[in-house]
Amino acid sequence: MAYAQAMVAVGQRAIEAAEARDEMGVFDVGADMYAVCTGCHSTYALETLRPGA
Ligand code: HEC
Repeated sequence: MAYAQAMVAVGQRAIEAAEARDEMGVFDVGADMYAVCTGCHSTYALETLRPGA
């Protein structure tokens, strides 16, 4: 559940940054979101990190 909760948290930050028209904020949240994506995949879906492997 930790990854799902992290996903919700980063999503809420993305909404806040978007509503504030904070371009750098949106960019930074996007980077964090990618880290959550790959973090979960590295635990539960390792094959998604190695396309074609
Ligand atoms: C809570 C865990 C979790 C999070 C967070 C997560 N994923 Fe995934 N993702 C998975 C799992 C598990 C699979 C494998 C599902 C399967 O094979 O049926 C998957 C599969 C995928 C695939 C398909 C890959 C393929 O080779 O078919 C894509 C694309 C993907 N995720 C994108 C994302 C993106 C983009 C994010 C972030 C916005 C994200 N995922 C966040 C768990 C997660």
